[in-house]
Amino acid sequence: MSAHSPAQPATPNAENTEDSGDRDDVVFVTGAGGGIGGAVVGALLATDAQVYATDVDGDALDELARQHSSERLHTRIVDVRDTASVETAVTQAEAEVGPIAGLVCAHGILRAGSALSQLDEEWQLVHDVNVGGVMRVARAVTRGMAARQRGAVVTIGSNAAAVARDGLSAYASSKAAARHYTLCLGVELAPLGIRCNVVSPGSTDTAMLSGAWETRDRPTEAGLEGAVNRRAIAGTPEAFWPGIPLGRIAQPEWIADAVTFLLSPQARHLALHDLRVDGGATLGA
Ligand SMILES: NC(=O)c1ccc[n+]([C@@H]2O[C@H](COP(=O)([O-])OP(=O)(O)OC[C@H]3O[C@@H](n4cnc5c(N)ncnc54)[C@H](O)[C@@H]3O)[C@@H](O)[C@H]2O)c1
Repeated sequence: MSAHSPAQPATPNAENTEDSGDRDDVVFVTGAGGGIGGAVVGALLATDAQVYATDVDGDALDELARQHSSERLHTRIVDVRDTASVETAVTQAEAEVGPIAGLVCAHGILRAGSALSQLDEEWQLVHDVNVGGVMRVARAVTRGMAARQRGAVVTIGSNAAAVARDGLSAYASSKAAARHYTLCLGVELAPLGIRCNVVSPGSTDTAMLSGAWETRDRPTEAGLEGAVNRRAIAGTPEAFWPGIPLGRIAQPEWIADAVTFLLSPQARHLALHDLRVDGGATLGA
């Protein structure tokens, strides 16, 4: 198949009965050293999945390996900005562990600040990691999935892709692009039985959430964590930020539950879906 030709269905959809999500499938995870990525790895290891966990942060991967000490966990440093790093990792994962049946893109960076003073370098970095990274990894992984006509892809988006966000123009636009890229990829791959979906978290208790407030508008109240959580839950009307109707910050494991569901055979008929896991923060938008 040429790089530009659309995927051709080899069999009618209804005949394509083999689905991804078997318990011993190989799942490739990016951002595995992070809060949500780490929770996804934990949830996958709780099944019989083989997990190929990648991140640019080697120390975070070492910590992950210490936490789980499982023979089914394979770790590798990968920078999603680097095509060669991504391609080599995918080739090695398939050679050493087996055909990749699941992909979870859980990497990401956030830079906050006014759109009026947006720096070129920061804009490019955020988009290169958050959108370019998803494209590079998905392109490398789904090539094999397309040949085997089997697989499932989940991109971790953000509810910031659905509603405009004060102070987050680079991040929110990059997540909107990553979401739309994943859905477009899904249109090409669905005829081959490969399901591409998005999980869009709202405020989730990870380093990214506390970091966002540190660079944006650090609350003066004692105890950053408590202040961050209170402001996120209540909303910030002066910045047009809605609150969280369910009244709590998500735990990374709750996001991981949505991811493992979308990878599983129970989600066999879900494709091109954006599953918002944000306690209702986007008010159904
Ligand atoms: N935490 C939240 O409130 C929240 C809300 C909505 C969406 N998200 C999304 O969830 C995903 C996971 O975020 P998190 O909250 O776990 O944050 P996190 O900062 O804990 O984890 C992000 C991980 O991505 C990795 N990473 C960054 N640049 C990379 C690169 N170039 N190559 C490979 N890996 C790289 C980091 O090393 C880190 O381990 C991100 O896509 C983020 O945008 C998070």
